[in-house]
Parts: sequence; C-alpha cells; structure tokens
Amino acid sequence: MMAASLKLGVLASGRGSNLQAIIDAIEAKSLDAQIQAVISDVTDAYALERARKHGISAVTFHPRKYASREEFDRVVVGCLRQHQVELVCLAGFMRILSPYFIREYKDRIINIHPALLPAFPGLHVQRKALDYGAKFSGCTVHFVDEGMDTGPIIIQAVVPILDGDDEDTLAARILRFEHQIYPRAIQLIAQGRLQIEGRRVLCKDSESDDQKRQIWGYINP
Ligand code: GRF
Repeated sequence: MMAASLKLGVLASGRGSNLQAIIDAIEAKSLDAQIQAVISDVTDAYALERARKHGISAVTFHPRKYASREEFDRVVVGCLRQHQVELVCLAGFMRILSPYFIREYKDRIINIHPALLPAFPGLHVQRKALDYGAKFSGCTVHFVDEGMDTGPIIIQAVVPILDGDDEDTLAARILRFEHQIYPRAIQLIAQGRLQIEGRRVLCKDSESDDQKRQIWGYINP
C-alpha cells in the first residue's frame, strides 16, 4: 500500500515562484505531497493565480478585518485545519506569525529565506549581503519558531557574490537555488527523515547523497 502523501498548506503574499517550484516537484513526482490550500493576505497575489491554474483551493484573508495578529492567525489556522494541513510552508508570506500560530503547528511550519542564516535575517537581505561585502550568500530552509528567521536549519545552498552583482542579479541567482532546496526539504519531511535535536536538524540515512549535499551545504547548479 502506498503511504499517504504529506498535506501542505502554502502561505504566500506575492509572485509565488517558490509555490510554483513545489507544485512542479509534486507534478514531477519528486515530492510526495499534495497542496491542500494556498492562503494569502493579499487579494491579487500572483501566487493565488498559480494555485487556481492547478486546481488548488486559493483563499485570501484581509489582515485589516481582524483586531489583532492572533485573531487573524486564528482564522488562518482554522482554514488550515479545515483543509487537514499537516505542514505549513511559508513562501514569501510577509507577516510574522503569532506565538499562537507557532504553538498550534509546532515544528510543522517551515520557511525559505534568501540568505545564509544566521547572516542577514529580515528583509532586503540581498542588498544587505552586497553592502556588507560578503563573498557568498545563498538560501536557507528552516523550521519557524517565535523569532525572526531563527528556527532550526534544514537545508542551505551557497551561491557566490560576484563583483558585477546588483540586488537583482544576486536575488535571481539565489532564487534558482531556493526552487531546488525548498521542495527537497519538504520531501525530507514527507519521508519522515528529519529529527530536530535542539538547534540541529538531523537527517536519517546519512549515507545518502541527499545528506552529503546537506553536509557540504552546496548544491550544484
Ligand atoms: C523569496 O526570495 C523567499 O526566499 C522570500 O520571499 C521571496 C518569495 O518569492 N521569503 P516567491 O513569491 O516565492 O517568488
């Protein structure tokens, strides 16, 4: 009998290219998951359009209609539960989650961040990496805790920062790797291979190529 695939809820505020990478990986059968719902806080987020094109339920909640962050999050969590979501994937979701949300989906929320955490958390991080003069940046998939981009790290990919780079060229180089590591991280969770030990995320079957790539922290283009 085939194991049931992992039920995802994707939260996105914008163009949704990471959402698309997840959809593509599912359709290519390299990811054993299904997207139950895409939820946005922005009515015209292109991510919603991408969801609809693939027959995925697309829902918007307007933050201004709710008195507090937690009230908004209660509605979102209610929607996720209604769709039987097991893993919440933040993909360009521009809101901080309340402690309530984090508690409700403890160790079941992940995020993709376009820098090598713990360097450059927050926003405009490609600009920050350039301004700092870093020679490498990259992207990080991590579990979400109550801090800002502080949860345990699942996978990272490293990209060089070139002399001619501006924010856009660096962001584009990083984004290609985001699209590789985000579905890969979800697949590790779907396979039940990850274990959180304090700050460290350990991966079972450490002899596998997957794990080696994580150890080296570099994914070949
Ligand atoms: C990505 O760079 C992601 O790392 C960050 O927000 C951006 C979202 O892009 N959290 P997209 O909407 O997935 O195209």
